[in-house]
Amino acid sequence: MLQQSLDLALVSGVGEGGIPDAAFEKAVADLAPALARLNGEAKTLPLLGLPAETADLAPVRAAAERLRQGASDVLVLGTGGSSLGGQTLAQLTGYGTAGLSAFLPEPRVHFIDNLDPLTFAALLKTLPLKTTKFVSISKSGGTGETLLQSIAAITALRGASIAEDKIGWHFQGLSEPAKPGKLHALRALLEPFGVPFLEHHTGVGGRYSVLTNCGLLPAAVLGLDIVALRQGAAKALAPVLAGKGVEETPAALGAALNLAAMRNGKNIAVLMPYADKLALLTRWWMQLWAESLGKDGQGTQPVGALGPVDQHSQQQLYLAGPKDKLFTVLTVANKGKGPAIDAALAKQIGEGDFAGKTIGDLVAAQGLAMIDTFAKNGRAVRKLHVDVVDEASHGEILMHFMLETILTGYAMGVDPFDQPAVEEAKILAKRYLAEGRG
Ligand code: PA5
Repeated sequence: MLQQSLDLALVSGVGEGGIPDAAFEKAVADLAPALARLNGEAKTLPLLGLPAETADLAPVRAAAERLRQGASDVLVLGTGGSSLGGQTLAQLTGYGTAGLSAFLPEPRVHFIDNLDPLTFAALLKTLPLKTTKFVSISKSGGTGETLLQSIAAITALRGASIAEDKIGWHFQGLSEPAKPGKLHALRALLEPFGVPFLEHHTGVGGRYSVLTNCGLLPAAVLGLDIVALRQGAAKALAPVLAGKGVEETPAALGAALNLAAMRNGKNIAVLMPYADKLALLTRWWMQLWAESLGKDGQGTQPVGALGPVDQHSQQQLYLAGPKDKLFTVLTVANKGKGPAIDAALAKQIGEGDFAGKTIGDLVAAQGLAMIDTFAKNGRAVRKLHVDVVDEASHGEILMHFMLETILTGYAMGVDPFDQPAVEEAKILAKRYLAEGRG
């Protein structure tokens, strides 16, 4: 169960650097219509129906099974919201975790979300292509990065003497259905090879798609419990569907805090989990927050940090720099976990207090100490806590942040589901490519 405490974010908790209590109370009041609006969308906003959805699980499982068959490696091609949700889920199995990712069992899952010519060329050269599968994910089906990666993968398969009629075996597509009379580029590329497609939910945009087949497919390939994931999400959603008030809806309280923060000079929102399994959550959340709320000259800058490692990197600025940040520290019940510290060796290095403790004991103490140090230094800090990081708690965290983002957007008066500013550079890049510029 996700626990949230806001006390240390307010002036009454941390003194002068906190968010004024009156500003928070005003934001709570402003959140009420936003929450009522979201509750009214229970039947029309597809995201809110996902936790209870089961009809799409069988096709996801079937596609995952097909992908696993004979595969040593599965490359997930896609960018932004078509990749980050899958990545944060995959991290539950060690994907993207320093020191672990090189030793994961087959099929190894790789997410290639950034378009870098050298990385992709090196990957295609290094991978055992005969046993490599590709998942091309794009809601629109027209994203240049994903299309070029998919074309390059087909070319590499051909270069590895894979027969034309076998290329389809190496691919899975995931995209919206084609619109009548309009070319759907990804389908036009892959369907002639007989590549099967899962349908991207037409009513759920990329950065909100982690609980659709976009996130669930890679999760299922990795053997994660996708039902538990949705059940966890249902917990965060329950107060919204039940029509509870702001005070009883953790995501709405979190939104109120963020709203009050942005109205009171806290231009930066930092999310700092104390668990490797949540490191990529911060990348997913940064996209969600930035692309949903950076509108009409408003928004706060999302920053991802990781504890305890960033205590050795960012802490100086966080504690002694400008008081322009709202910190969210997400702790996990780490006590008693991990290797135990040999008592004799601990004494030998003059650290008798480490004797008999575990690495988890130290990390738990560090998380707590960091929160208290933020507070002592007049830094606004919200506490989030889960006992374990598993599918259920991860689902709850993901839904919490999606609801918090939507509610903040509604209260700000912006549309949290569009991204008009993103299109401009995309269109220009296509023009420059055609003109040979760059
Ligand atoms: O969240 C979003 O809407 C974006 O980040 C998209 O996911 C990203 O641009 C990829 O788009 P598409 O899935 O259409 O390829």
